[in-house]
Amino acid sequence: MAIRPIIRLGDPMLRAVAAPVADPTDPALAHLLADMAETMQAANGVGLAAPQVASGLRAIVWRPIAVRGEASDQIIALLNPELVPLDDTRELGVEGCLSIPELRGLVPRFARVGLTGLDRAGNRVEREALGFEARILQHEVDHLDGVVYLDRMTDMASLGYGPELDAARDGGTL
Ligand code: NI
Repeated sequence: MAIRPIIRLGDPMLRAVAAPVADPTDPALAHLLADMAETMQAANGVGLAAPQVASGLRAIVWRPIAVRGEASDQIIALLNPELVPLDDTRELGVEGCLSIPELRGLVPRFARVGLTGLDRAGNRVEREALGFEARILQHEVDHLDGVVYLDRMTDMASLGYGPELDAARDGGTL
């Protein structure tokens, strides 16, 4: 395994539509997924999409979120993921992106989604995700379509740098 460079906003690969994985058992794909997991962990991320490491394939990795909202150590990989909202409820929540370092912003996302795709062995996966995990998945699947969270923001005034936003939220120093 190896840590791969994470490309940043401005690289055309982040705006390209990724291609479906044709052969889930391709050894190069297993290598890619292992590298994505290692790269995400090294960058302290909770999710990563293949285009962020300059691969044009529809693959994502993420950490499922434990009950108390903390990221678990487990990492899931999914190929050709597809999402459907399970109801109309949307929630505003803070997001950042490893390809857009330091910035954070409020993004509306569906609170409950159904997820389908293929696991590393090529088996069909079906599951539901809620809350922050649903948010991560919507963010990562967007990357496969060349969409970044900035495109989804409805209030650009909420965009800012992490420490500044934290200071403002906590009252900060005037
Ligand atoms: Ni991202």
